[in-house]
Amino acid sequence: MAKPFIKWAGGKTQLLPQLRAAAPQRIATYYEPFLGGGALFFALQREGRFERAVLSDSNAELIEAYTQVRDSVDDLVGALAVHQRKYRGAQGGAEYYYRIRAKRPACAVGRAARLIFLNKTCFNGLYRVNSSGQFNVPHGSYTNPTICDEEGLRAASEALRGVELRCADFTEAIATAESGDFVYCDPPYVPLSETANFTAYTATNFNTADQQRLAAAAASARERGVDVLLSNSGHPEVAQLYRDAGFQLDTVNAMRAINSNGAERGAVREYLIRAG
Ligand SMILES: C[S@@+](CC[C@H](N)C(=O)[O-])C[C@H]1O[C@@H](n2cnc3c(N)ncnc32)[C@H](O)[C@@H]1O
Repeated sequence: MAKPFIKWAGGKTQLLPQLRAAAPQRIATYYEPFLGGGALFFALQREGRFERAVLSDSNAELIEAYTQVRDSVDDLVGALAVHQRKYRGAQGGAEYYYRIRAKRPACAVGRAARLIFLNKTCFNGLYRVNSSGQFNVPHGSYTNPTICDEEGLRAASEALRGVELRCADFTEAIATAESGDFVYCDPPYVPLSETANFTAYTATNFNTADQQRLAAAAASARERGVDVLLSNSGHPEVAQLYRDAGFQLDTVNAMRAINSNGAERGAVREYLIRAG
């Protein structure tokens, strides 16, 4: 059973029942332009709901990791097994974590293994980069984390077979969607408060102009006959942006990190937005 092989802030696993219910039963091409951990992709793939899939994200390292899972799973499993052994060994733990965090492997499989390794051992499984694009999350405190989930990676690799993977801005990624296709957009949310503002998935932040570009791109796809579904926070700005564009908004509750360090969690109202 394929499922996300990486933990991602804003991951949608807990909202899957509502998202699956809102997705069409038969989809020609499924688009997920803010891929992250890809929870909905893996769920719809398991149910055989689409014929083709185009998955994209503006985070180049993330898309490279998906590409390696799809195309080089044997080598990737080998590289992760080495990380797991060394992390659990004598000079392992935090010391090994910071050594790997400081490196940039020369080959794609090494970079993908590094990203997955850091994701399994860093604080809260966060992905965060500084303004020069360097991963800067501290070491987490897990006892014996599974770094090399061979079975999970092989299942994900199988699910990704034949899937198109692109590192692209969302506008470019969904420009080719047409009638019969389904697009699910899960962008960085409009922050509910200053401290809840977590948008450092890439070196550049997702701002108000990006939220407006997204609403316009969703409206344009809808005019081409594309079925569009979006998630965003329960912020009044979101309601205004999408109601003005003629979308229908439903409220759902999700457990989310409610402060900047992600340690406190609470039920937060979110919007599920679709063409009305
Ligand atoms: C909320 S996360 C997606 C979570 C995902 N649905 C999951 O289940 O794990 C948002 C994603 O949008 C990506 N992103 C940010 N700006 C973008 C842009 N302009 N175009 C495409 N993707 C972007 C980030 O890299 C991040 O992976």
